[in-house]
Amino acid sequence: MTFDKKIVEILPALRMILSEEIVKVARLSVDADASIACVSVEVEGHQESDIENIKSAIAKYKASEGKLPGIINLKGVGVVAVANTPYQADILLQGEEVVDIKNEGRVAGKTAIITGGAQGFGGGLVEGMFKDGCNIVIADLNEEKGKEFAQTLNNMGKPNQAVFVKVDVSDAESVQQLIFEAVCAFGGFDVFISNAGVLRAGGLDEMTPETFDFMTKVNYSGYFNCAKYASSVLKLQTANRIGYYGDIIQINSKSGLKGSNRNFAYAGGKFGGIGLTQSFALELMPSRVKVNSICPGNFFDGPLWSDPEKGLFVQYLNAGKVKGAETIEDVKAFYEAQVPAGRGCTVIDVLRAVYYIMEQEYETGQAVPVTGGQEMLK
Ligand SMILES: NC(=O)c1ccc[n+]([C@@H]2O[C@H](COP(=O)([O-])OP(=O)(O)OC[C@H]3O[C@@H](n4cnc5c(N)ncnc54)[C@H](O)[C@@H]3O)[C@@H](O)[C@H]2O)c1
Repeated sequence: MTFDKKIVEILPALRMILSEEIVKVARLSVDADASIACVSVEVEGHQESDIENIKSAIAKYKASEGKLPGIINLKGVGVVAVANTPYQADILLQGEEVVDIKNEGRVAGKTAIITGGAQGFGGGLVEGMFKDGCNIVIADLNEEKGKEFAQTLNNMGKPNQAVFVKVDVSDAESVQQLIFEAVCAFGGFDVFISNAGVLRAGGLDEMTPETFDFMTKVNYSGYFNCAKYASSVLKLQTANRIGYYGDIIQINSKSGLKGSNRNFAYAGGKFGGIGLTQSFALELMPSRVKVNSICPGNFFDGPLWSDPEKGLFVQYLNAGKVKGAETIEDVKAFYEAQVPAGRGCTVIDVLRAVYYIMEQEYETGQAVPVTGGQEMLK
């Protein structure tokens, strides 16, 4: 068994075993001095017996010391600190005492991985959830933007933390590496938001097989890659904490509920995503992992529509797609008029749906429309 695999198969369980009222984070260090550990456990590479050995070592420590250990030496793997916040875990790993810090907010203490988190809807969810106390893994192809974003969030002086991990969701190995890095940073995660998506519109005459494959690999296969590697960590966590639920949330689209003219590569991948959500939900609900999609309407203020050079408003204006439109504002007004709510979808609309899904224990396999009434379920 490789070093990487051991971590992903043990740390999420350890994080749960050592959590009390609220779920903690576990941080691994290969450099920390093993003598600071309260408990040492031999790791052999057999997941079940390793977890059993860890549990019995922890139980022995608790019986003699009257509390749970904060630092565990997984022999040959590294030293793990478990604490309420990642900064506290870092302090423990330096062999120092931690002081109590309050982390407040609707998702305080939770950890999320958000793909496509460097900008757009994903960026908005990253910011909103971070401000609400969540530790965040910004997972994106765009390294420059993602790293800078994580830095900006960490400069806010909050007790929770953001890290950036470069990923290409269309590449299974890259997603596996993302999960490994997230587990090393936080010990696991409570929600995986599969948000990264691409759009290349075009009718049958224009769409090349290469572009169709590219979009399918990101929007459809990418969601499979994410659910596959995220679910094994979430299942390990639910198995080691009574009453705990994990979430996989796919950011789908209103185009996953209704065909989209000259945009079939996008709509087809999104429709398929709902099939995956329903099927993953059936498979995973017995393990207390919920799987749901959110189907937002058009995000007119996001870069896809509003980018001054490449945005859809400029493209549609230049292509004369909206009859009589002379400015970007005319094009925007045309599209807004199609929404009963009279405006485009915003990040807060989607964030509210994310929180609804996370807080709900009796809902899975759903495609939640957030479209201002533009698209309704049959
Ligand atoms: N913008 C809208 O109007 C709208 C409406 C409904 C649904 N959605 C959906 O919301 C999600 C986000 O859309 P957006 O408009 O905010 O996107 P965006 O283009 O603004 O941002 C997408 C992010 O994903 C990243 N990304 C692209 N390919 C990737 C890959 N292979 N691996 C990892 N990261 C990758 C990009 O670097 C970028 O940071 C998508 O799934 C999209 O289908 C968007």
